[in-house]
Amino acid sequence: MSQVIEYSEKVMDHFTNPRNVGEIEEAAGVGTVGNAKCGDIMRMYLDIQDNVIKDAKFKTFGCGAAIATSSMATELLIGKTVEEALKITNKAVMEALDGLPPVKVHCSLLAEEAIHAALWDYAQKNGITIEGLEPPVKDIEEIEEVEET
Ligand code: FES
Repeated sequence: MSQVIEYSEKVMDHFTNPRNVGEIEEAAGVGTVGNAKCGDIMRMYLDIQDNVIKDAKFKTFGCGAAIATSSMATELLIGKTVEEALKITNKAVMEALDGLPPVKVHCSLLAEEAIHAALWDYAQKNGITIEGLEPPVKDIEEIEEVEET
């Protein structure tokens, strides 16, 4: 028996009309993460000036929830300081989308980790340390496994 998954209007809106799709040439930071289980990949580009995210764009090869969370993540990122951007969790992205079905929560982890990976790239390129930022993972399964244990 198949189960019908219901999505919020906001998820459907960001899936069918995603914001900030594309790439930023010579971005201050670029981060790519994937999920080996489903094969989905998300890449986040950040334009950062004077410690503020001036622009954010993404390319996601993935499911609808991954596209919606990347789109919402870019909207939340623009205008934030680097420190504020670090606090954008997958929960914050999900709340901004009025929730995700439980089986799709892991998709939002891609967005959180893509942000971290892009910030990490920015920090590396500029030789700075962003307090609280851990080295990024390439595959979100690494986090999921840690959380399960
Ligand atoms: Fe792969 Fe959603 S199923 S990120």
